[in-house]
Amino acid sequence: MASGTASGRPVGEHTRKNARLQRCAESTCSFVINMLTSHGERRVGPPALVLPPHAPWSATPSTIRAMPVQTIESAPPDTTRRTPRVVAVLASPVPIAELLSALSHALDLTEGAPAGHTLRSCMIAMRIADSVGLGMSSRTALYYAMLLKDAGCSSNAARVTALFGADDHDVKPRMKIVDANQRIRLAIETFRTAGGDQGLRSRISHFMGIARGGGVTRELIAIRCERGANIARQMGFPEETCAAIRSLDEHWNGCGHPEGLRGRAIPLLARIANLAQTVDIFAGAKGTAVTMRMVKARRGTWFDPQLAGIVLTWRHDARWWTYLREAAPETEVAELQPDLGERLVDARGLDMVAQSFADIVDAKSPFTYRHSTNVSRWARAIGAKFFTDEAELVRLSRAGLLHDVGKLGVSNTILDRNGPLFDAERIAMQAHPVHTWEILRRVRAFSDFAKMASLHHEKLDGTGYPWKVPAEGLNLPARILAVADIFEALTADRPYRAGMSVEAALSIVQRDRGTRLDGDVIDALEQATTEMPLDAQVPART
Ligand SMILES: [Fe+2]
Ligand SMILES: [Fe+2]
Repeated sequence: MASGTASGRPVGEHTRKNARLQRCAESTCSFVINMLTSHGERRVGPPALVLPPHAPWSATPSTIRAMPVQTIESAPPDTTRRTPRVVAVLASPVPIAELLSALSHALDLTEGAPAGHTLRSCMIAMRIADSVGLGMSSRTALYYAMLLKDAGCSSNAARVTALFGADDHDVKPRMKIVDANQRIRLAIETFRTAGGDQGLRSRISHFMGIARGGGVTRELIAIRCERGANIARQMGFPEETCAAIRSLDEHWNGCGHPEGLRGRAIPLLARIANLAQTVDIFAGAKGTAVTMRMVKARRGTWFDPQLAGIVLTWRHDARWWTYLREAAPETEVAELQPDLGERLVDARGLDMVAQSFADIVDAKSPFTYRHSTNVSRWARAIGAKFFTDEAELVRLSRAGLLHDVGKLGVSNTILDRNGPLFDAERIAMQAHPVHTWEILRRVRAFSDFAKMASLHHEKLDGTGYPWKVPAEGLNLPARILAVADIFEALTADRPYRAGMSVEAALSIVQRDRGTRLDGDVIDALEQATTEMPLDAQVPART
């Protein structure tokens, strides 16, 4: 019997792999390789930071499809405080593909990727799957892997920002343009990106830190890949899906991460996913000709040569590239859903998906760990003092989980600032409820609380943000969510301070009683704190 490692891998292979990894680690900026592998290659920042002058629900969003079993709340806002309209909860399960497709907008925002990137990547991957004759089971696994490929990306945003000293939404797309095998160009682009606009000294300082931090790269990628795979696993997807997400950043030549897998040791689905997402970024930013040159150049280094060869045959397929550029990706991805194993989500599944995306949001910044989960718990606890209708409590709970999903569109240079913000940064920060609205209104199963969730920073006296909605526009659930959000923020531990006691937090909340915050809701919160002590909150993760 041949000797082997504890993992079962032959010793010779293990040794060769270590040698390959050593060579990769010697790269001046090897960690940057990680940043280049999984997302956009064009410079795309968060959405424009122009706040709309009026709340956006003055008209029913045209993008929301007809929904026979669900009521979409629309203008004018419900101002009936004690008799809130009962909103129907979905009466029948919804396909998880529809849910994840709609939520993919949030994942694109996280990395500053072009809108629709996740969905177009799925379209490309499924065409490759057709060409290689992928079996239905693997095709299904690939489909869901593409929809969740970036689920773990928020987990390294804070570290990337700290390492580069620059906007993570700027760093990631820019660095992904560069071929990590061309080390000089990689170093130049790293130098240009590091330090942001903080001047030459900062640029040099961050560049040197990056250059010395080769081991950091693997750690960052490992955290992200594991997180993404775990989210897929938590949602009940097969191990083939999870493995594809985990190995998304592996390269054919063994210089990828997190394991430095080489060639066919990389799961086939991961090889397809890597190629598909890179093709989408290049095609959108630089056109077909440049995309073809990129695929050809990286064939056998980044990409599986056989798969790259398939894509190269599309060179003159103008109809395909036009379709990719112009088709409505949500519709196309829905059409591509494999027949095998269509997954439907019931009420419990919707809670799980909401919780998963809450975790994605909270993972983005050390300042917000468990914030969404805890806001949800407080919102439900307060709501129970007013409502007996479980549907309303479910709405409050899910709105709490997803109220800050728009923060995925805000840079960590702003989210993680422990101090005052400049005007432009404050505007960007205050735009996050707009992003929340834009994300949730597209999700059929969540659109009934999209407005409530996006109102969580509005105040009764009209001094809130972003729309300065006055009291008459804030119904009871919105007022509850606003109080729950503030109370959780005051009582949660933060990297720079311990959380306040219940008494101290309540005294602060009471200062705005009747002026900015609803007095009855504060009373309900006070009662809830006697029944759900602070330590019942989900603690911060380290
Ligand atoms: Fe918020
Ligand atoms: Fe919040």
